[in-house]
Amino acid sequence: MTTVLDGDMQAEPQAFDRVLSSMCTKPHPVAREAAERFLATNPGDPGSYPTISALEDEAIAVLGEIAGLEESAGYVASGGTEANIQAVRIARDRAETSQPNVVMPESGHFSFRKAADVLGVELRIVPTDDDHRADVEAVRAAVDDETAMVVGVAGTTEYGRVDPIPELGEVASTVDALLHVDAAWGGFVLPFTRYEWNFSHAPVDTMAIDPHKMGQAAVPAGGLLVRSSALLDELAVDTPYLESTSQATLTGTRSGAGVASAVAAMDELWPTGYRRQYERAQHNADWLAEALEKRGYEVVEPTLPLVAADLPRSTFEALRGRGWRISRTATDETRIVCMPHVTRKMLAGFVADLDRLEVRASVPVVADD
Ligand SMILES: Cc1ncc(COP(=O)(O)O)c(C=O)c1O
Repeated sequence: MTTVLDGDMQAEPQAFDRVLSSMCTKPHPVAREAAERFLATNPGDPGSYPTISALEDEAIAVLGEIAGLEESAGYVASGGTEANIQAVRIARDRAETSQPNVVMPESGHFSFRKAADVLGVELRIVPTDDDHRADVEAVRAAVDDETAMVVGVAGTTEYGRVDPIPELGEVASTVDALLHVDAAWGGFVLPFTRYEWNFSHAPVDTMAIDPHKMGQAAVPAGGLLVRSSALLDELAVDTPYLESTSQATLTGTRSGAGVASAVAAMDELWPTGYRRQYERAQHNADWLAEALEKRGYEVVEPTLPLVAADLPRSTFEALRGRGWRISRTATDETRIVCMPHVTRKMLAGFVADLDRLEVRASVPVVADD
């Protein structure tokens, strides 16, 4: 029988040297060490595991600082999906209607579809503008008295766009809806940009911000932040058999490894290390965008470190065949996410492979006679 500990069975990828579309990355060495050390802990039971529970408070304090929240409140979730589901749950439970809806730009992550399905909420998806950002007027037209939440994305999954968060906040306030910002991917790069995206820029109520993406923590380490702990109370249920009296998380038993590794990564990198990482990633994205443009591809400008370009499907497949882990947008562009593990050398190797394929494709076929 094969087991995971058989000699030659390895996790894939062993190296991240061809991984170009993932939104996760190689954990920072301190994050890996912390994850290993806290592997057998469960922050879901603070009475039995007080150290990891205290570390979770630290994680939320730093996440709050990153996101411009004065009095941090929230918890370390399993990822952006859970944070988004929980945010919708808060909004639904707070709304004074039996038929709540959530209004989201089409660039929103598919986790909101799960949220809507699980929570019985109507999801109203509205178009984006020509630059893939939420169209504020379309959002305004879609909200009504039964809107429980307006979603803005700060770093979209496909194009790395930042929605106009303050304007979306203004629209949300007209119908007394909550404003949720999904910064699951963008949250660790946006502090070093001029975008207005966080709690200090707009009346944001809830936010997803994931250490296990740009934060370089080990999976699973997502983050749900809320403007006031009263919002978390919407989620709390009594916990009769535990020493703690209530629990606001979606999962019960949780990964202490994720929590510890988030704290270790943020202690090590916030803010200087993350700033350097952002600058490096953005330079890499700009370099790649230019290289692809020079070769005649249409490229969506990388306003954050994410490049989307219209490589033909056959080229995409051939690149995947050469081991490049790439994926496509809904409209068929190839997307390359310049995560911390993505180096200029990797990108140069990718472009060199692309050149080889294109040369081959352009060699005229000589008919046999
Ligand atoms: C913007 C955004 N939100 C949410 C998610 C979901 O996060 P997770 O896969 O950690 O649940 C992603 C994943 O890539 C994302 O890009």
